[in-house]
Amino acid sequence: MELERVAVIGAGVMGVGVAQSVAQAGIRVVLVDLDDEILDSARSQIRVDLRMQAFFRPSEEIGDPDEVLGRIETMTSTHGLGTHELGDVDLAIENVTERWQVKQEVFRTLDTICPPRAVLISNTSAMPITRIASATGRPDRVIGVHFMNPVPLKSTVEVIRGVHTSEETVATTLGLLERLGKKAVLVKDSPGFISNRVLMLTINEAIFVLHDQVAGIEQVDEVFTACFGHPMGPLATADLIGLDTILQSLEVLYDCFKDSKYRPCPLLVQMVDAGRLGKKSGQGFYAYDEKGGGR
Ligand code: NAI
Repeated sequence: MELERVAVIGAGVMGVGVAQSVAQAGIRVVLVDLDDEILDSARSQIRVDLRMQAFFRPSEEIGDPDEVLGRIETMTSTHGLGTHELGDVDLAIENVTERWQVKQEVFRTLDTICPPRAVLISNTSAMPITRIASATGRPDRVIGVHFMNPVPLKSTVEVIRGVHTSEETVATTLGLLERLGKKAVLVKDSPGFISNRVLMLTINEAIFVLHDQVAGIEQVDEVFTACFGHPMGPLATADLIGLDTILQSLEVLYDCFKDSKYRPCPLLVQMVDAGRLGKKSGQGFYAYDEKGGGR
């Protein structure tokens, strides 16, 4: 299927990166979130990210920032969803908060307003795609793509087929990913897929290590960076992802598997209650300046 216009729903940490990558591939984007303030900040973030990436990627890969931003129109969901603005999109990529009620409502709405041919992609961290597809009348055209953060810099994604996902939907999705320059690892539908079934447990246990005062923040991360050669430790990774998203993903895994190994560490819950969400709020396990750098 020829992709000319793609809706990106949610303009947070992931939606910003997805919108940028799709626009860089020459596809028109309509980026949707709840209010204008979030959307204005998303546009500013994309401009900053394009400038930063110019330091370590060839300029032909990045594109002219004005042209890339020119391909991205923005729309608040209260104004737009339910009207004609998304009536001609070829595909939608959902990146809203990792809560079932929120995703269910978004998929119900997308199913009503997007053309019947449109493929609906969820960038969920952990939810079963078959469950998300059940909120629509087109489960054959619903699929999971688990993008990695930061989206423009990561080469590989997980692609998750739901029970009803058709071959045509898989082919359309792989075609999009090829245009974005991303490789795909195909995964069967199971909560957390490969990545987050493992990563969320690791991060949660690293937070328990801190909570139990076995070691400090830097020491926990240093074991992973210096001893194992990981580019980032689990606590720095948690800050990058967002502690609210980590907590929500653990809650999804706990709910799906009914296994106590996914119970969130009380320290994680307390940090989210305190608004210490990581890089996006300026404070998590580490402190960040306005440009997102650690300090
Ligand atoms: P975020 O909290 O930064 O952004 C979520 C955005 O969705 C917010 O801007 C919020 O206003 C918006 N939103 C909520 N309800 C909406 C609605 N009804 N219509 C339009 N917009 C709505 O979260 P983040 O990190 O971007 O996560 C988004 C999704 O991507 C989640 O499902 C998360 O699990 C997943 N994900 C997150 C990764 C990460 O590293 N943060 C990595 C891969 C997937």
